[in-house]
Amino acid sequence: MKLSIPATLLASAFAGTIARSQSLPNNFPLLDGSGFVETYNLNNAPISLTGAFFQSLGTNGRSCSSCHLPTESWSVSAAEIQLRFLLTQGTDPIFRTNDGSNCDHSIDTSTLEGRRSAYSLLTSRGLIRIALPVPANAQFTVQSVNNPYGCNETSTVSVYRRPLPATNLRFLSTLMWDGRESTAPSTVKIAYPNTGQLLADLAHQAIDAITGHAQGAVPANAQVLDIVNFETALQTAQALDFQAGSLSNAGGNGGPVALAAQAFFIGVNDSFPASFGNNPTGAPFNPAIFNLFNSWTNSPVRQRASIARGEVVFNSKPITISGVAGINDVVGLPPSFSGTCGTCHDSPNVGDHSVSAALNIGVADIDSPLNVSYLPVFTLVNNTTHAVIKTTDPGRALITGQWADIGKVKGPVLRGLASRAPYFHNGSAATLSDVIQFYDTRFGIGFTAREKADLIAFLNAL
Ligand code: HEC
Ligand code: HEC
Repeated sequence: MKLSIPATLLASAFAGTIARSQSLPNNFPLLDGSGFVETYNLNNAPISLTGAFFQSLGTNGRSCSSCHLPTESWSVSAAEIQLRFLLTQGTDPIFRTNDGSNCDHSIDTSTLEGRRSAYSLLTSRGLIRIALPVPANAQFTVQSVNNPYGCNETSTVSVYRRPLPATNLRFLSTLMWDGRESTAPSTVKIAYPNTGQLLADLAHQAIDAITGHAQGAVPANAQVLDIVNFETALQTAQALDFQAGSLSNAGGNGGPVALAAQAFFIGVNDSFPASFGNNPTGAPFNPAIFNLFNSWTNSPVRQRASIARGEVVFNSKPITISGVAGINDVVGLPPSFSGTCGTCHDSPNVGDHSVSAALNIGVADIDSPLNVSYLPVFTLVNNTTHAVIKTTDPGRALITGQWADIGKVKGPVLRGLASRAPYFHNGSAATLSDVIQFYDTRFGIGFTAREKADLIAFLNAL
């Protein structure tokens, strides 16, 4: 347990102060479990906290900032939601039954006890319920849903997802865990060169968030533009580590200002062979994804040396990649090969996937190495072969209707991790240690205790 109660309380005191002020100074240090996270405004000005992003534009009191907070890398942590439940007795606008509760029926939110049980996935795992219709042309049928909270419908199904950070957006190759805001009708797939597709998708996403999460009417164009301009100017990263000190000292290149200078284009450093043509420059893949802390290799500060070693583990520890739908089943790629963390997290110094590539690494599997017993189990039957798959989240298959897309999600940005636990789309990794445990077991990596500790120190410094 990394985040102690006093740290949480202090963070909340910060959050309270922020809520009452009109703006946040640029690069203002905000406390998290391992140090301070900062957001740099690309316009090099204070971050205004009064724009459309912070306004209630719907009918249930919610704004974008109900689920995307500067203190939490513009996502939200389960610890902060727990505290908000405590302080408001479960009445803060994040606690709404349209998608904040485990299910939208068979619940009683009139009493504190009722609310505690209705919002248990939100307070324990930071999960929002996303209801998605099974596509009419799907190659499969949802035969049954075993949902512990009562949402057992099979034509529109309920999945549970973590809010993704509304920052560092210029590095995205696809929007939402399942890419649905980049491939829904009237959106455009983000491609090279990105001439506005990302902005169009973000506008579409903002409208869906206001009509969905906030239960509002379609907003005015000016409001949508204000939101997109606001969120695309944000660059967020861990800036200080309690034990290592400033992450941009002594040759370190951590923190959001260095991140703001990071070049990116769709396909940069893609890990697929050049013959796939995903990288427009044709340059070969370089597994050294992160080069932020090279200068700390021989640092006398113990935590700095550990962070530098963790970066090397990320960049070079061999991982046998097999059974990953979206990689090993792609024509032209082997069914098993030796890769690294960067095979999937290939975007330099950012760590998301530089091309739109949904993957199934097994996080939603019913036999995931992590506990997923709090999630529903879907039984899907292939309409042609009658094969059966049981999963806790059909993932991208709910968007494309493709059998091959079951369980696939995107590889997310790996910056600002320390302030936004839990991890993975379903919150099944309560800590970064759980994330490493997942990879170690799923891929049989065989990390030493020191490699694990170094990798965690490194990920906390991103
Ligand atoms: C009730 C909580 C909630 C509210 C309110 C909310 N979001 Fe989100 N947001 C989420 C969740 C959950 C996801 C991920 C859902 C998924 O991928 O299925 C998400 C994803 C996103 C993403 C995608 C980032 C990425 O990496 O793909 C952006 C951008 C975003 N939200 C912006 C906004 C904006 C702008 C608003 C206000 C108009 C808003 N959100 C309101 C919960 C919320
Ligand atoms: C085979 C592809 C692949 C490899 C290899 C891989 N990842 Fe991932 N990673 C993903 C995908 C896909 C996700 C999203 C999975 C989900 O949420 O279901 C993810 C998610 C994560 C997250 C959670 C981020 C968040 O916002 O919740 C972290 C942290 C992470 N990976 C770190 C690593 C590290 C460290 C390694 C090397 C030990 C690694 N990954 C290796 C594909 C991969």
